[in-house]
Amino acid sequence: TKNLKVLVSSNDYPPTALKILEDHFTVLQSRYLNFGQEGSTLGREEILKLIPGCSALVWISNLPITNEILDAAGTQLKIVSTVSAGYNHCIPEELRARGMQLTNTPNVLSPAVAEVAVGLILSASRRFTENLDQVRRGEWEIGFDKVLGQDLRDSTVGIIGLGGIGQAVVKRLSGFDVARFIYSGHREKPEAKALRAEFVSQDTLLEQSDFIVAAVPLTNETKLMINKETLGKMKPNAVFVNVGRGDLVDQDALYDALKNKQIYAAGLDVTTPEPLPKDHKLLTLPNLFVLPHIGSATVRTRREMAELAANNIVNGLTGKPLLSPVKL
Ligand code: DGY
Repeated sequence: TKNLKVLVSSNDYPPTALKILEDHFTVLQSRYLNFGQEGSTLGREEILKLIPGCSALVWISNLPITNEILDAAGTQLKIVSTVSAGYNHCIPEELRARGMQLTNTPNVLSPAVAEVAVGLILSASRRFTENLDQVRRGEWEIGFDKVLGQDLRDSTVGIIGLGGIGQAVVKRLSGFDVARFIYSGHREKPEAKALRAEFVSQDTLLEQSDFIVAAVPLTNETKLMINKETLGKMKPNAVFVNVGRGDLVDQDALYDALKNKQIYAAGLDVTTPEPLPKDHKLLTLPNLFVLPHIGSATVRTRREMAELAANNIVNGLTGKPLLSPVKL
């Protein structure tokens, strides 16, 4: 199979994963970190130069795959293997129309993303943004007079989407004396019983939760699901956390809800756009804690994601079943 060529879209790819590909194929690798990052066309030009004749593409970016790339690739391109769980940036309809396959990297990242969700819950509810500002200014409140937060203890935690990440969040929170876990979604999940999580309607979840974690992929259905109306159903002490995708949230509505203290606080690992411009109005809010999309960013998790992406290609190009195909 050494006559088959595989393109890795970025120079940031763990050596163990590269080796898996190199053992089977001729591997081409873009020298650039990101395709088409704003202000730089170098990555894009290099991908367009390298991709003709390739049978598979490892996509290491949240930036969109474009028709231009697929056109340049040619019809021998069989598999796009994205090193991410989310695949909203991979134009799945287009891949299907072209008879190509798509694989992603679910599950391996659930523990790492769930750790960040727990971090955001604590950071937002204990007002780390304001508290860190105090430390930076050297103006700590001393004694009893502190910025007061909200307890996880005896709270109701609502998970929107009890998939791999949502389940991992519940597991991790089980040591925090949470009174009740509830979740919403398309249907009841068999895993929920062991987690003592109760299936409820989305409205019930919004109305009863003290903490709300969005852990769903971005689809036509979930886009802007957190909006003026749904925020309006949340409790005034509610802490909202998003580890899915920025576009799940109407950010103007979230800004208003936080500014007017209609909800208590929010923690975001994902925003629209990314990076969020440093003068963005969201960043003026003391009751918002933001991270730069680091959910899966641990050494081990990124390695496991990259290896899974590589093994998908090995299987796909050697006639074996794909390990984690996306249903197109
Ligand atoms: C994912 O895998 O979808 C994470 O958000 C990293 O992109």
